[in-house]
Amino acid sequence: MTPEPDTRRGLTRRRLLLGGAVAGLGAAATVGADALIRSGAERGAGPAGDAAPAAALGTATVPFHGRHQAGIATTPQAHAAFVALELAPQTDRDGIRRLLSVLSDDAARLTQGRPALADSEPELAEVPARLTVTFGFGPELVRRVAPAAAPAWLRPLPAFGIDRLEPAWSGGDLLLQIAADDPFTVAHALRMLLKDARSAAGVRWVQSGFRRAAGSVPAGTTMRNLFGQVDGTVNPQPGDADFDELVWVGADGGWLQHGSGFVLRRIRMDLDRWDRLDRGGREQSVGRHLGNGAPLTGTEEHDEPDFEAKTAIGFPVIPEFSHLRRARSDDPRERIHRRAYNYDAAPAGGAISDSGLLFASFQADVDRQFVPLQRRLDELDLLNEWTTPIGSAVFAIPPGCEEGGFIGETLFDASA
Ligand code: HEM
Repeated sequence: MTPEPDTRRGLTRRRLLLGGAVAGLGAAATVGADALIRSGAERGAGPAGDAAPAAALGTATVPFHGRHQAGIATTPQAHAAFVALELAPQTDRDGIRRLLSVLSDDAARLTQGRPALADSEPELAEVPARLTVTFGFGPELVRRVAPAAAPAWLRPLPAFGIDRLEPAWSGGDLLLQIAADDPFTVAHALRMLLKDARSAAGVRWVQSGFRRAAGSVPAGTTMRNLFGQVDGTVNPQPGDADFDELVWVGADGGWLQHGSGFVLRRIRMDLDRWDRLDRGGREQSVGRHLGNGAPLTGTEEHDEPDFEAKTAIGFPVIPEFSHLRRARSDDPRERIHRRAYNYDAAPAGGAISDSGLLFASFQADVDRQFVPLQRRLDELDLLNEWTTPIGSAVFAIPPGCEEGGFIGETLFDASA
């Protein structure tokens, strides 16, 4: 077996990064500074934004082990790669167990700023930058391990009229959501995980996305999408009274308890046609102001929209066809936790953009929460004029694991 690379190098570097702060203060102060960084990291995993000091952005870590997987309730990092693997035909139950054990071990190390075993570029692991690796299981993986254990919703979404799905962005057996505040960290983690997976599974698709760079806007700022809209204002957050119930699978979920359900939709946004719409039209299509995301009936981003308010000539101020109106359900259980990223690919065929949203959402039950919402938007949503779903995938997100365990072990227990 290849010996574990020396991880002390990472610690030394971390101290060097803090050089200015600790110079001349002696060893005790150095230890204190390390603790300070860690506490910054722990804040980073919290719900309400994560103002890690600039020097600590690279060294901040999010715990890998725990009841839930990281990367769901974690304050979204600036960069993410979503990867779907396809199991090789010969990868059976034991092969999947081996694959998940190795990848869990890799993720446990990399997320803490330590190289994976046999990492040929161990220096690249030294900047964890709040790296999280979140695993999801597609229908085929569950079928090969424990066919009877698949939740009813673990299947492709029903077809929607707005869909123009491309196989190149859809489906998959094993999802890895790799997210960090540094795109370099994402690239290295992605490569390490794929190297260790390649004998058991091949790449079906990789979709990379971004938000504003860490530190470029105040912590807690709602993200914007490439239409310029403030996107994510009304979104259940960790710490909200019903977040747990909406996002985590309950005790009746068997092996999936403390896990979640995941949907990824690749939604192309036609920026070139959007450009032709005037600002008033853009605001009507979503029902919010572009400037600060306030509802058309309010002045601040988090003002409650007034759907009864009428214009002077009697039309609703927030139009019936607006995305805001259509995306809101009267049933509070029909809500989801959105964790989207923007994508910006190379344009082709004379267009000057190929951009959109990697619409990622977590919910305890995809059929009960996501599907009715998507169905309403399919029936009516003015935003559909400029948006087209071109990829779709559903995964079961297993619970987290403890040290020494691996992600997915409860699925194996379920079929023992
Ligand atoms: C490219 C496609 C999309 C764009 C550009 C978009 C944009 C937006 C914007 C700007 C808002 C208002 C601010 C906010 O509360 O976040 C919003 C709200 C929302 N969107 Fe979307 N969205 C898209 C697709 C979707 C899809 C596919 C779903 C679910 C199936 C969805 C569900 C929601 C929900 C639940 C809200 C909050 C509604 C509320 O206020 O209760 N969106 N979206």
